Amino acid sequence: MCGIIGYIGDRKASEVLISGLSHLEYRGYDSSGVALMKGSDVQIFKAQGKLNNLIEILKDKQDTCSNAHIGIGHIRWATHGLPTTINAHPHTCDCKNLTLVHNGIIENYQELKEELTTLGCHFVSQTDTEVAAHLIAHEYGKTKNLLKAMQSAVKKIKGAFAFCAIHKNEPDRIVVAKRNAPLVIGVGQDENFIASDIPAIIEYTKKAIYLSDGQVGIVKKNSIEIYDENDLVTQNKIENLPFEAIAISKMGYKHFMLKEIHEQSDVVRNVLSGKLLSHDDKIRLEEFKLTPEKIKKIQRVQIVACGTSLHAGMVGKYIIEKYAGIPVDVEPSSEYIYRETIADENTLVIGISQSGETADTITAIKQVKEKNSHIIIITNRADSTMARLADSLLPVSAGIEVSVAATKSYMAQLISLYMLAIYLMEQKGIEKYNDEIVNLKQELIELPNKVEALLENTDNIKQLAKKYSSYKDFIFIARGINFPSALEGALKLKEISYINATGYGAGELKHGPIAMLDENMPVLAILNRGIVYDKVLSNCEEAKARQAKLIGVADYIASKDKDLFDDIVIIPSVSDTLSPALNIIVLQLLAYYIAEYLGKDVDQPRNLAKSVTVE
Ligand code: G6P
Repeated sequence: MCGIIGYIGDRKASEVLISGLSHLEYRGYDSSGVALMKGSDVQIFKAQGKLNNLIEILKDKQDTCSNAHIGIGHIRWATHGLPTTINAHPHTCDCKNLTLVHNGIIENYQELKEELTTLGCHFVSQTDTEVAAHLIAHEYGKTKNLLKAMQSAVKKIKGAFAFCAIHKNEPDRIVVAKRNAPLVIGVGQDENFIASDIPAIIEYTKKAIYLSDGQVGIVKKNSIEIYDENDLVTQNKIENLPFEAIAISKMGYKHFMLKEIHEQSDVVRNVLSGKLLSHDDKIRLEEFKLTPEKIKKIQRVQIVACGTSLHAGMVGKYIIEKYAGIPVDVEPSSEYIYRETIADENTLVIGISQSGETADTITAIKQVKEKNSHIIIITNRADSTMARLADSLLPVSAGIEVSVAATKSYMAQLISLYMLAIYLMEQKGIEKYNDEIVNLKQELIELPNKVEALLENTDNIKQLAKKYSSYKDFIFIARGINFPSALEGALKLKEISYINATGYGAGELKHGPIAMLDENMPVLAILNRGIVYDKVLSNCEEAKARQAKLIGVADYIASKDKDLFDDIVIIPSVSDTLSPALNIIVLQLLAYYIAEYLGKDVDQPRNLAKSVTVE
């Protein structure tokens, strides 16, 4: 959340910054801004709202834009202060000599602000970043050296930050610093780049230096110097960036979300590739570094994740407990980190994250690393901070996901968890489910075709979306392995349509939520054939008795039961165990078409960000 960018070289800085920010918009879109430096002249341009507003402003500033070859930029997800132009970055100090962009949260900003106020500083915004700008400027007053000013300022700052700073007296450099927020320096020929994430710079360079926590650096046109937390010069490895510049386009789809939903058959194929070769072969998971002996010693599994990734983890619990016979706890990372957790060397901790940059999950993983547990990271970003903390890294390779609402990355996480559960079972030598697993593997191999069949004709879901788009509230219910599907379906609808949707275990409906049911409350029930089918059906009867509108999503509904439902969506036939992978597509599409019908900003819903790098 929040993205920063910097450029120094011979290109028009404004073009590099705007292009970079457009690739960072997934991190926030409350406001954007750039500072362009030519000699000791620094011009700042900011705009509230989407990046296009800034682009419009810059159209009239072509002279400044053509002449500046150094600059820093920012895209904001508001944490401190309203999403206004005044709170937009870059921020400056009283004398306007120093200009700063920041991703993160400065926890002691109030104390610092009070101290700086007594020293005579004036603040114009409500942001924590402006406090950092004044602090660095104050330190600059002591040494007249931007590097030293940054080094001493960061020692006084508590919290998370990635900074890019420029100073009018040092017009040949950008000074950067990082702690608990991502920052990468793109290494070019007679030019260098700085960004929160590599899509922002990948079209210019394939070489990069990742800054570690506590490091401060000077980035010039022809050199990069890095200093460690003791202010000593250090060398960071230059790494080859892991993906080619990709034309991130909608490929004819109206929104990235719809395109990404439609990519899910290929995503399943990708995840299975090389791991599941045939229904009678064992799962190959070379990325998993524990020996079979150590796997046999695992006493418990803890899954930590947030949002959609958390829901994938909840499905993981069902399958790991069943097949691998190991107790699994699943917990939102934000809760896990504020209690005494019990983990040791016989605990397997699984961190799941699309971005690999979610602050809460990173903190959870860092905490548990000290307990010698084995850490698996399941992520879509093999280059992320979380990936670097992994003992075993399971990249899911869903491809870049642009839409803020996660869809294909969820699918990739689900399939990875199926692979992992079966792998653990096989490595432990458990034979109880051998026949079932042969069938499950065959189903997994056939899954991409079923996903395609489901996506081939979505007219019925479009019709449903139209019919239900005027409701203000929605309830999703399911039991067993689809309980997380109900939570994820409700989350999708909430995120992009702003309809108040909640997921419940169907059996819990009668313990409170049923009080809300009447003809104005649609209830969507997921009922796959399996041990809970009849139970969910009874819960549907209870809902119908309260006049709720009832939608059934199932691979089969007996003719005698069909009249119970106002609407039914039938998915391709699938086992209960694998059904979350198909049911979720219906729910993703329903949310998508409702939001689209309501004219919402599907890919960039209000108040959200795709990568949440603050706790
Ligand atoms: C944000 C996103 C969600 C995502 C969650 C966890 O809230 O808007 O779509 O599920 O973060 O992100 P992660 O990258 O860790 O999966």
